[in-house]
Amino acid sequence: MILVTGANGLAGSAVIREFARVHAPVRALVRSRTKAQALEAFPTVELVEGDMLRPETLANALSGVDRVLLISSPNQQMVETQCTFIDAAKKAGVRHMVKLSGVTTSLDSPFLFSRMHAEIGRYLERSELAWTYLRPSQFMTEYLREVPTIVTERAFFLPFEDAKLTPVDLEDIAKAAFALLTTPGHESKTYMMSGPEALSMTEIAEQISLAIGKTIRYVNVSPEERKRAQLAAGIPAYVVDALDVQSRLRREGNGEEVVHPETHIALGIRPTTFAEFARRHATDFRRESDRFEGA
Ligand SMILES: NC(=O)c1ccc[n+]([C@@H]2O[C@H](COP(=O)([O-])OP(=O)(O)OC[C@H]3O[C@@H](n4cnc5c(N)ncnc54)[C@H](OP(=O)(O)O)[C@@H]3O)[C@@H](O)[C@H]2O)c1
Repeated sequence: MILVTGANGLAGSAVIREFARVHAPVRALVRSRTKAQALEAFPTVELVEGDMLRPETLANALSGVDRVLLISSPNQQMVETQCTFIDAAKKAGVRHMVKLSGVTTSLDSPFLFSRMHAEIGRYLERSELAWTYLRPSQFMTEYLREVPTIVTERAFFLPFEDAKLTPVDLEDIAKAAFALLTTPGHESKTYMMSGPEALSMTEIAEQISLAIGKTIRYVNVSPEERKRAQLAAGIPAYVVDALDVQSRLRREGNGEEVVHPETHIALGIRPTTFAEFARRHATDFRRESDRFEGA
């Protein structure tokens, strides 16, 4: 049995949809079944409730499980959540854990979540479970977060100057996770994964514009302006601070501009371009920008 944690989240639900697409059985761990109705509809998906921070709630989720895809929210409890879960999984007889982290994962990273992923990785390696790392770059879905200002101002506002990033499609990540969970030979290996192109924010804006048939601009803002906007949008201060550090690293060139085609190639996955992603999500962008015109 394969278990996917964080199954109600962005990455986890994409992986569950991939299992469902190919009619493969999978167990999905969620905190709340009522929030997971979309997953419940898939015939090959077994939905189980449990809290990764409370081992006493995980018996059903972990029963008979051989392999796990380890995902939880990027929050202040991420290390405690995943390490507590690793202990529970080991006790329950899990053999192999595939951990989703990020391309910049490093114990000495100034970026909070990169450091946390590395701490969890160190814990996992010391647990004696077999491990595999799937380390994607920025998700393409991050640009859907910019829809509100695309609606009101036909622009998005980021402090990245002319830095390039290599966003990757969650559907590609889901295909990679599926392959790592269902085929042998991935123990003790790291799979870095990015989209096929390094793009500046101006180029991202051009791709969104082409997809929706309207001009969307990228506006470079100061780090302080970005922080003010995020705090006003209700994002917790520690996340705002972490993202501010991440933005600085991106401006300086922290390796996120490097294209990593190796995982797509090794696992036989066709890389999705940002243009394809933007076209697939044109309704999300277009519907909202129609509102801008008072439609
Ligand atoms: N965004 C990016 O560009 C990017 C790039 C590379 C890597 N990553 C990494 O990808 C990972 C997944 O991100 P995501 O966007 O999919 O996160 P997400 O949407 O927040 O999903 C995380 C899921 O984990 C669940 N969860 C959290 N605590 C839990 C607990 N104690 N017990 C059970 N479930 C729990 C959440 O459940 P609820 O639904 O109940 O809250 C949520 O469904 C993160 O670690 C992030 O650092 C992100």
